[in-house]
Amino acid sequence: MKKEIKKGKIVISKNGPYIVSGKLPLEKETIMPDEEGFSYEWKKGEKYPDQEAYALCRCGKSKNKPYCDGSHVADNFDGTETAGRKKYLEQVDLKIEGPELELTDVQSLCSNGRFCDRKEGTWNLTEKSNDPQKKKMAIEQSCNCPSGRLVTWDKKTKKAYEPEFNESLSVIEDSHAQVSGPIWVKGKVQVKSSDGHIYEKRNRVTLCRCGKSANKPFCDATHIRVGFNDGDESLKG
Ligand code: FES
Repeated sequence: MKKEIKKGKIVISKNGPYIVSGKLPLEKETIMPDEEGFSYEWKKGEKYPDQEAYALCRCGKSKNKPYCDGSHVADNFDGTETAGRKKYLEQVDLKIEGPELELTDVQSLCSNGRFCDRKEGTWNLTEKSNDPQKKKMAIEQSCNCPSGRLVTWDKKTKKAYEPEFNESLSVIEDSHAQVSGPIWVKGKVQVKSSDGHIYEKRNRVTLCRCGKSANKPFCDATHIRVGFNDGDESLKG
């Protein structure tokens, strides 16, 4: 398989937008529920025009979302980055060991996609991973977790199960909660803080775009509490 050349970058500007470069594709993706209301799958939506570089709103106040329109200045946006700078594995606060799978969990990274709540939940499914169906569901659920809070690992090989992502960004919409969510950063894109720190490059992370996360630049699910809406018509149900 041809190896992708990494070129996308996100630089966080102080109290301002995410400056994206490297022609990173940007599209919309919506969390779709099953018949019981549990998050089940992703539905791809609008693709935004290709651009070499662009600025994405992180204060939540732009009138041209997902792009920045300069509103952060008048709004006096405080974008102070408060997230820990340790690597994912150094932040793990819960580890489940099942018969065939292990699950690692960093709760502070939760963007509340809720794929992990379906059926028995990823934690219980991991504990029962000698059942092939339950093992499959645990892997699917953890791979659907946009923030990378949850990672399942093969117990024998110690290899992580990860979805195959190219470098790209998605703006998340949450149809069941009827809110707009974070920016989903896929494929180990480099994210650089406003003071020059390079966060661990991960296959999936979510960046706050409502402006209210207490774990900036990462999403902490506050968009649900504050009812963040980027103007997506489909959320007005
Ligand atoms: S960051 Fe510029 S308008 Fe939101």
